[in-house]
Amino acid sequence: SINGLDFAVADLSLAEAGRHQLRLAEHEMPGLMSLRTEFGDSKPLAGARIAGSLHMTVQTAVLIETLIALGAEVRWVSCNIFSTQDEAAAAVVVGPNGTVDAPAGVPVFAWKGETLEEYWWATMRLFDFGNGRGPNMILDDGGDATLLVHKGVEFEAAGAVPQTTEDDNHEYSIILETLRESLSSSKDRFTKIAAEIKGVTEETTTGVARLYKLAKEGTLLFPAINVNDAVTKSKFDNKYGIRHSLVDGLNRATDVMLGGKLAVVCGYGDVGKGSAETLRGQGARVVVTEVDPICALQAAMDGMQVVRIEDVVGEADIFITTTGGTDIITVEHLSAMKHNAIVGNVGHFDDEIDMAGLAKVPGIEKVEIKPQVHEWRFPDGHSVIVLSEGRLMNLGNATGHPSFVMSNSFTNQVMAQIELWTKPGEYDKQVYVLPKHLDEKVARLHLDALGVRLTTLTKKQAEYLGVDIEGPYKPEHYRY
Ligand code: NAI
Repeated sequence: SINGLDFAVADLSLAEAGRHQLRLAEHEMPGLMSLRTEFGDSKPLAGARIAGSLHMTVQTAVLIETLIALGAEVRWVSCNIFSTQDEAAAAVVVGPNGTVDAPAGVPVFAWKGETLEEYWWATMRLFDFGNGRGPNMILDDGGDATLLVHKGVEFEAAGAVPQTTEDDNHEYSIILETLRESLSSSKDRFTKIAAEIKGVTEETTTGVARLYKLAKEGTLLFPAINVNDAVTKSKFDNKYGIRHSLVDGLNRATDVMLGGKLAVVCGYGDVGKGSAETLRGQGARVVVTEVDPICALQAAMDGMQVVRIEDVVGEADIFITTTGGTDIITVEHLSAMKHNAIVGNVGHFDDEIDMAGLAKVPGIEKVEIKPQVHEWRFPDGHSVIVLSEGRLMNLGNATGHPSFVMSNSFTNQVMAQIELWTKPGEYDKQVYVLPKHLDEKVARLHLDALGVRLTTLTKKQAEYLGVDIEGPYKPEHYRY
């Protein structure tokens, strides 16, 4: 802590390098910058204390400083142990007007290469705004901050945190340990925090799935906005974002020639579609696995063979999981792969590749090629190259999606924060999506930068279609 600002980042002296990158990113994030212009004076987020858990990248830094410009108080952590860009974290702590010796920015607790213990320690720091104050809003990516509050409330109600059992995975036992410490110092800390929280805005498919599950069980503690399913989020970030950052991650990690290689993309949802497109763009031969007949048919119509992983496991050079599911690549698959096959995951959590199982293979050796790139040598002599320990490799091996597409996602995030913060009482403890006119607004804010000239409906055309000249242009059920 310096001057009352507490933080934990890798190296504050990276702040200047980070600030240069932020300046360039601001130019590429017209949506966020126009919200600063629109709301900078009225400060709709004044009084909001936002606990943010989202990859601490350069783009997120521009999001954080937008929330501040709109009046919020913010604390931040990354939602992944490998995704922080240390120079961005440093720049946010120092702030636009601070110095390395007198930082004047935002408390950030994030660095690249955290252990899981450090990750949950950091996440816990989100809930202490000083002077006994907790957050009153959450901005989440994947739902870990929301999970901690819900588990905290559950255990406080029960008066105890359950003991770790043999069945608990390593990460879950760390979460329990973190909460046990909290419970030992206060019996109702999270219960009080939850009562103050006006809502959560959630960034990604996996976090949204967790929220709908809580809402369905009737245990969601506050209103939630599903940012992911704004059209200008999932149909852009998940698809066009990964189209940029998947190949970026593969190149930085391995520098392997992608053209001509056989690549397997597991899952053909939004992220899978972008992944397949970018690999094909490099000249790879792409095949897809799917469980959903609609997405499987889409892949086939897009010209890709849809296979089962067993059909190609011994021939493919690259495996990318994009499902948000579990056990997609098993130890059996890894054992049957070609020498030096590359295996990476871009789904939110690390359950897609059985990394725990891989580590338990008798006689297996793990060789670090460089951070976040590991060769796993099987006793039979063949190796597989696993990226980012099975965690989001587009963020672990590269720097995630580029600014322009993240501007779309984060403009939705900021509008969702404003919505829940300024309209308490209008939302129940359910999951909502932003209204379509705001979705269209996000897109509109990004047109000028690309030189798009939009056609305006005439009055006659608007009447003919039965829509307003100003939009919204599509019914709710339209799928884009
Ligand atoms: P989605 O639901 O559109 O797509 C997932 C697809 O995987 C679905 O079509 C589903 O049928 C398929 N699938 C499920 N189980 C499967 C199995 N066993 N084998 C083959 N296919 C299977 O979800 P979306 O939006 O594409 O997101 C996928 C994951 O990526 C989520 O975890 C999400 O949070 C994450 N994500 C990651 C980003 C990144 O930067 N790496 C960006 C955005 C989302």
